[in-house]
Amino acid sequence: MGSLEQNAPAGRGMGVETVAGILREEIPIANNLTPGAAVMDGSQQQNSGVNHHHEVSVMAAAGNGLKKRVTIPLPLEVGTRVLCRWRDGKLHPVKVIERRKLNSGPDDYQYYVHYNEFNRRLDEWVKLDQLELESVEADADEKVEDKAGGLKMTRHQKRKIEETHAEEGHEDFDAASLREHEEFTKVKNISKIELGRYEIDTWYFSPFPPEYSDCSKLFFCEFCLSFVKRKEQLARHMRKCDLKHPPGDEIYRQGSLSMFEVDGKKNKIYGQNLCYLAKLFLDHKTLYYDVDLFLFYILCECDDRGCHMVGYFSKEKHSEEGYNLACILTLPPYQRKGYGKFLIAFSYELSKKEGKVGTPERPLSDLGLLSYRGYWTRILLDILKKHRGNVSIKELSDMTAIKTEDVITTLQTLELIQYRKGQHVICADPKLLERHLKAAGRGGLDVDASKLIWTPYKEQGG
Ligand code: ACO
Ligand code: ZN
Repeated sequence: MGSLEQNAPAGRGMGVETVAGILREEIPIANNLTPGAAVMDGSQQQNSGVNHHHEVSVMAAAGNGLKKRVTIPLPLEVGTRVLCRWRDGKLHPVKVIERRKLNSGPDDYQYYVHYNEFNRRLDEWVKLDQLELESVEADADEKVEDKAGGLKMTRHQKRKIEETHAEEGHEDFDAASLREHEEFTKVKNISKIELGRYEIDTWYFSPFPPEYSDCSKLFFCEFCLSFVKRKEQLARHMRKCDLKHPPGDEIYRQGSLSMFEVDGKKNKIYGQNLCYLAKLFLDHKTLYYDVDLFLFYILCECDDRGCHMVGYFSKEKHSEEGYNLACILTLPPYQRKGYGKFLIAFSYELSKKEGKVGTPERPLSDLGLLSYRGYWTRILLDILKKHRGNVSIKELSDMTAIKTEDVITTLQTLELIQYRKGQHVICADPKLLERHLKAAGRGGLDVDASKLIWTPYKEQGG
């Protein structure tokens, strides 16, 4: 490369692709609001009716179907429930999670909002003019007693916890730890990262060390995953860093795809960096600083510049609960291309080599659940089709390394199983199987088990 200039892009002249907006159809996954201080101009202030008494007068719906004039103090309180105009142009109910003052004037605030209907990854900073002040809910947050915990909570906080609790992915959290989690992680700290040739909008809070709390963008070395605050620092690092692939052993290669196994004990810093990075896209996962106990399986796309990380999963060296996967992530630029299903399939191939059945660690995220359901459905129905239904749950589990409970819930969801006289009976009508298979989506990238060169952890004398 000769002499790299100070500002050379991390992607070595490849340029940076922005991954923003709604990437795919069904589940919106990324923010596209540019972070940083937005400045409201005078006309917007006038439109939203802000006056110098720090309150605004609006017409709001009264109970009798008529409208009445109400006064709303500004800035809005944290906890306020109101409608907010989202990027689809429509109004959606939100709750104000946090607010911050802008430099431009005494009345200028931005509000960090959570959309009730959407996953927390879409929480974002909005300006006052995106909020429909007529819709501010009249009942202020009153303190109510939480009998179970004896803790003071506002009614809204309580409602929030109950609402969230009912959602998929939170069933393993009790109210107190969920509250603690949500309080600590309520506002995203890092809003963008640069990794290889991509600039990526982040989804969630990640507990980076305090010295990184003042920057909204971080620059990662795509090979050793160390991170810095400035592009010039990364350029300097890239000149020194001699890694061109993840540390550890390459245990699988198929065309330009490679899998590397990284032992968290042998590569502690790499393991920790990976956890910081991954947490930006994983919500309800505890960050394990104790990376010694884990193996990391890194999926890469390789070319003449090196092996570029696409995604990964982690696995405990010894899992008492029978988990064969702790966390799974496909980096946003690579999502919906079948890599998630590849990683899931890979985790079951490792279990087969271990002679065990496995299951992913709970709770599963919304996207995690969709991916697993899709994978389980496709694998199980393919077998049922081949055996014309003449196969037991135990046999299905043995053939696939999918834990029997997951086999049962998958078939139950598809209504292919009945519980008769204390036994589960599979009913596999070929037409029904075909219909479910079509609905289960694409198969994803297949794992060629013959290309896996691997011995289970315990056999390496660890
Ligand atoms: N909207 C709707 N369905 C989706 C979406 C989406 N945005 N993303 C994935 N799916 C579903 C689809 O059914 C898809 O199959 P299809 O494309 O054939 O329809 C299926 O999931 C899997 O698609 P893949 O392309 O194989 O998976 P991907 O590479 O996108 O990775 C993953 C899936 C790993 C869950 C990814 O979404 C991700 O990294 N999410 C953030 C981290 C996360 O939530 N991880 C799981 C946490 S739980 C745990 O770690 C145990
Ligand atoms: Zn590096």
